[in-house]
Amino acid sequence: MHAHVILAAGQGTRMRSRLPKVLHPLLGKPMLLYAVETALALKPERLVVVVGHGGEAVAEALKGHPVEVAWQKEQLGTAHALLQAEGLLRGFPGPFLVTQGDTPLLSPKTLEALLQRVREGAGMALLTVELPDPTGYGRILREGEEVLGNVEEKDAPPEVRAIREVNAGAYAFDGLLFQALKEVRNENAAREYYLPDLVAIYRAHGKKVVAVRGVAEEALGVNTREELARVEGVLLGRLRAEWMGKGVRMVLPETIYLEPSVELAPDVTLWPGAVLKGRTRIGEGCEVGPYAVLEDTVLEPGARVLAHTVAQGAHLHPGASAGPFARLRPGAVLMEEVHVGNFVEVKNSLLHKGVKAGHLAYLGDAEVGEGANIGAGVITANYDGKRKHKTEIGKRAFIGSNSVLVAPVRVGERALVGAGSVITQDVPEGALAVARGRQKNLEGYALRKLGEEEG
Ligand code: UD1
Ligand code: CA
Repeated sequence: MHAHVILAAGQGTRMRSRLPKVLHPLLGKPMLLYAVETALALKPERLVVVVGHGGEAVAEALKGHPVEVAWQKEQLGTAHALLQAEGLLRGFPGPFLVTQGDTPLLSPKTLEALLQRVREGAGMALLTVELPDPTGYGRILREGEEVLGNVEEKDAPPEVRAIREVNAGAYAFDGLLFQALKEVRNENAAREYYLPDLVAIYRAHGKKVVAVRGVAEEALGVNTREELARVEGVLLGRLRAEWMGKGVRMVLPETIYLEPSVELAPDVTLWPGAVLKGRTRIGEGCEVGPYAVLEDTVLEPGARVLAHTVAQGAHLHPGASAGPFARLRPGAVLMEEVHVGNFVEVKNSLLHKGVKAGHLAYLGDAEVGEGANIGAGVITANYDGKRKHKTEIGKRAFIGSNSVLVAPVRVGERALVGAGSVITQDVPEGALAVARGRQKNLEGYALRKLGEEEG
């Protein structure tokens, strides 16, 4: 049994952003939620998140997660932040885990190791790592196995700055915690109440303080945009490796972006620059071409998306293909063997088996029957300025190039629409509809005109 507190009230000045630091997304998910999920993995009795700067937005992002929120009205430092959880945790005997909302790569296993040390009798355990470049982190002072203290960068003389063992910002404490916190002073360069000062305070109470050595990567804290990018890179690297391990082929993997919510099957091929977001699901043998962007899109086994296609909320059935340069919007459903080609936009439309729309078309709020052919430049005029209307195109119908189908309208099975028609009435099954000005040829007119000009 333990309680966990996550500190997330800081401003994050170094991010230079309006967005509170802990809400900056990593692979589409706010940084803070990584810390929350890691905390929940250890099943804490209580989980408190301390919010403050941008606290309304931070609390909103926490909605739906089993956490309690404590407020730090003024950001006076990490020790002060932790003290704001006291009211909620009054009477809780400990042990306590404390982590930071800006350290998303910590693993539950490492936190468990910290807790374990306190359960075994230490008063306080903290995670330390050795970094080639310790800039920005608190430096650990020790005498052999014993941790004597922590010195923040701002307060450190050069010989202390040279120390490469740093405080990773993850701690476990026994029941003395809140009493000890009240002894923290702010006599330092930042005039802040430093949480790591608890090392010295616990020692003064005769308690044992121990360090657990972790791997450097886990301790990566996010204070700057550059660190945010580095952490996102680590998360991406892990995801790519995981999917490649499960049989996905990635060409130039370091150029491929994907989110943890995406699902891939064996023998999927992802070409360079592919971007896969949200609830995208890609089936066996599918191919995603270079620079394609797929969000909340399903590719059934054997479907293909060619270069530079952008799809959002689309569903491609086996053998369907889209692109290059296709745009599939929410509700675009491409059944088996459908092909949608370059500069074709499809929205809220069902394209039955074998439909072809090869070039430059817009299909919105339409149902297109099996085997129908949509010529280049065909437009469903689905919007009258107030409402959207439906277009129905029958099986094997052929819609000539540059036709406008003014919805609501139906084109029957096997009907033909002549190129350049503006169709405002239903076309019966098997009929030919031509709705355009007739061609008139004026014999010799062009030559006469030319003669006048040349004099
Ligand atoms: C902190 C540690 C440093 C450690 C590093 C590891 C202190 C004083 N320093 O430094 O030893 O090496 O983390 O990443 O603790 N926060 C609040 N309220 C505040 C101030 C901060 O809630 O008043 C929160 C922030 O939102 C953040 C966390 O505490 O999630 C750490 O604050 P930050 O200012 O980033 O501390 P560091 O300078 O990184
Ligand atoms: Ca930090």
